[in-house]
Amino acid sequence: MALLNNRHVSRRFGEIKAVDDVCLSIEGGEFFTLVGPSGCGKTTLLRLIAGFDEPDAGELLLDVQPLVGIPPEKRPVHTVFQSYTLFPHELSGGQKQRVALARAADQVAG
Ligand SMILES: Nc1ncnc2c1ncn2[C@@H]1O[C@H](COP(=O)(O)OP(=O)(O)OP(=O)(O)O)[C@@H](O)[C@H]1O
Ligand SMILES: [Mg+2]
Repeated sequence: MALLNNRHVSRRFGEIKAVDDVCLSIEGGEFFTLVGPSGCGKTTLLRLIAGFDEPDAGELLLDVQPLVGIPPEKRPVHTVFQSYTLFPHELSGGQKQRVALARAADQVAG
């Protein structure tokens, strides 16, 4: 079985179907890129995988373990955020990205 499996995952916000019956399998070591127009549900899906939000329906499995209900800090899933949430500083764009990567790597190690 693939490392990450999304089975019929849905998340609605009122009338908006942000994620609608998404099935997705990603193998271990696979480099996977999620591309789509603004508002198509990419961030919502990543938030569901990371555990910052829960699906209304469907199943999320990581290495056959169900993820739904497990808090984000207990999931072996790490996120480099679009906004770096760093103090205003002199850091360059590339330096900020390296801080974000180091922070995600620290979560893996710690
Ligand atoms: N917390 C929320 N409450 C209400 N609607 C939301 C919420 N989060 C996302 N949405 C809506 O769900 C849809 C998907 O949003 P999402 O942020 O997942 O899109 P996206 O693909 O990441 O877009 P972008 O490429 O612009 O970042 C949009 O219509 C958005 O307005
Ligand atoms: Mg987004």
